[in-house]
Amino acid sequence: SQRTLVLLKPDAVRRGLIGEIIGRIERKADWSITAMELRELGQDTLEQHYGEHRGKPFYEPLVAFMASGPVVALVVEGERVIEGVRRLAGPTDPIAAEPGSIRGDFGTIVRENLIHASDSEESAIRELKIFFPGIS
Ligand code: GTP
Ligand code: MG
Repeated sequence: SQRTLVLLKPDAVRRGLIGEIIGRIERKADWSITAMELRELGQDTLEQHYGEHRGKPFYEPLVAFMASGPVVALVVEGERVIEGVRRLAGPTDPIAAEPGSIRGDFGTIVRENLIHASDSEESAIRELKIFFPGIS
C-alpha cells in the first residue's frame, strides 16, 4: 500500500473544517491515519515543501498564507491513497472542482483551497521526509 502527506491548510483550520475533511478521508475503506499533528509552519519548511513553485507569481502569497495560522499535517496510508486523496480534494481551483469534492464543496479562492495532498509517489516520499522525518 501507499503513504501520502495531507495538510489541512490554515483556512480549513480557521473555518472549523478539520473534522469534516478528516471524516471524509477516514471513512474511505481500508485507509488509515497513521500520524497527525497541529502545527505552525516556518519559512524553511514551506520553502522545502513548495520549492517547485519558487519564482512563480503566486509563490510568495502562497507561503505567507500557509504561515498565517496552524495547519493539520497527516500521514494517510492505504490502497492507492495518493491518487485517492487527490480525487477527494478535487482540482486546485475550487470553482472548477466538482461538488462532492472537498475543494468543490467548501472553496472559492485558488490560494485558500483547504487541503494539500502529495501528487505522486515521488512527492509523497519527499514531503513525508519534510513533515514527519521520524517515520520513513
Ligand atoms: P497543493 O496540494 O497545495 O500542492 O495544491 P495542488 O497540487 O493542487 O496545486 P499546485 O501544487 O500546483 O500549487 C500549490 C498551491 O499554490 C495551490 O494549492 C494553490 O493554493 C496555489 N496556486 C497554484 N496555482 C495558483 C495560481 O495560478 N494562482 C494562485 N493564486 N494560487 C495558485
Ligand atoms: Mg501540489
